[in-house]
Amino acid sequence: MKRRDFVSVFSASLGATMLWSCRKDIIEPVAERADYLLAKPGAVTTRYPLKVPATVAANGQVLNCKTAITDIGGGKLSNVWTYDGDYPARTLIASNGTNVDISMTNHLPEETITHWHGMIVDHMNDGGPMLHVPTGGSYHYNFTVRQRAALNWYHPHPHLLTGKQVNLGMAGAFIIRDGEEASLNLPAGEFEIPLILRDATLDRNGNLTYKPTSGGFNGQIPMVNGTRSPYLEVKRAVYRFRILNGANSRIFGVALGNNAAMKLIGNDGGLLATMTEQTRMDIAPAERLDLLVDFRNLDNGSKLMLRDLRSGWDLLEFRVTGTEQLSYTFPSPNLSSIVPLSNPVRERNFSFDGMTKINGKEFDMYRVDWEVPFGETELWRFRTNGNAPHPVHIHGNSFQVISRTGGRGRLYPWEAGWKDTVLLEDGETVEVLIRFDSEVNYMPGMDNLYLMHCHKLEHEDMGMMANFRIVQTSY
Ligand code: C2O
Ligand code: CU
Ligand code: CU
Repeated sequence: MKRRDFVSVFSASLGATMLWSCRKDIIEPVAERADYLLAKPGAVTTRYPLKVPATVAANGQVLNCKTAITDIGGGKLSNVWTYDGDYPARTLIASNGTNVDISMTNHLPEETITHWHGMIVDHMNDGGPMLHVPTGGSYHYNFTVRQRAALNWYHPHPHLLTGKQVNLGMAGAFIIRDGEEASLNLPAGEFEIPLILRDATLDRNGNLTYKPTSGGFNGQIPMVNGTRSPYLEVKRAVYRFRILNGANSRIFGVALGNNAAMKLIGNDGGLLATMTEQTRMDIAPAERLDLLVDFRNLDNGSKLMLRDLRSGWDLLEFRVTGTEQLSYTFPSPNLSSIVPLSNPVRERNFSFDGMTKINGKEFDMYRVDWEVPFGETELWRFRTNGNAPHPVHIHGNSFQVISRTGGRGRLYPWEAGWKDTVLLEDGETVEVLIRFDSEVNYMPGMDNLYLMHCHKLEHEDMGMMANFRIVQTSY
């Protein structure tokens, strides 16, 4: 697909959207709504068991990108795009220091490439759009994991098509383990569950359907782990939920229905320095939360809802089962030591303009927008210039958020530690410190390119993305 065609499709749908919004009463065409969405007030929602994807070793995986038909709840079959027919994709797992070898084959009717979001890997293993493979093609990844324990994820990253392929179902969790995490005795096995949040729109036949607007995809229903109206049976125990916002564009304000506190232990880049209690956490597309939730004092048979306070949606119903209270001792609140970056040697300013540009420029796959010396700490300042929110994401290494001025005017506990995505709301300026100091960030003789982009996938696809290159400093 040429950019031109994409833009004309886009402006056609933008035109339609603007027409619709003049008539508020018809903004959501009823013909596109599935029957069960038209539930009467007071009607009981039928709930379906939450799908929990299988966890498999990342090393040795063969990922086949292909279309499939899957049950998204209650026998409702949907056409989806998948890795290996699984929606959501299997959870990959690897330990720090180990080698990961993965082959990806493209059986989709269009180009694709798989990106390991949050993984610190070299350019050739990063799965950016330059590396796309056509239908029938394959890509071979081989890298060593060189980073702390974290919940990362994998998703397609082809030029102009990321929003569509993610929306149609292609995403999975990628968990990294290390010794520090293991020493904390965190809930594991059946008590550690990844929750991939997203929104979706189904057509009349129950198929996932992608109808973007230039302001971003706005789905009509929430889904967790590819399940609509999900429930999860939990024991009277402490659980570790690894939450990923896998939506194209929607920000979730995560909270429990009874307003109880959850223990926040980690985010994008792994464990936080300290465990804190939070009742509500707002996460933008691609951000992650690592939470401990205590069900021990809830009665057998009681129910508790995980909710999204921004939309008012019920996301996931926990159903407490069992009379036995399972014992658990929380780790000490000092979880991890995080060395703060400091003394940046230079600053860079980035304005996120409209819906399509960074510093006045739309993405050009073959243009390198700036060069970053290997191993030097820099301050990057992000500013909105229209059409926020913009979740800003950087490939190649993690960063530390040091300030937010304007807008919400503060940082939140889940923005501490290491991050790879940070939310820029309307009127905000956010400063981060970043240092590309992993040995894979600069590989002699290679083109050491990485991306920075808005992770609202419609903005990304429309051009709010840039290439930068890591270069060797001349001592
Ligand atoms: Cu999650 Cu460049 O992407
Ligand atoms: Cu990424
Ligand atoms: Cu944006």
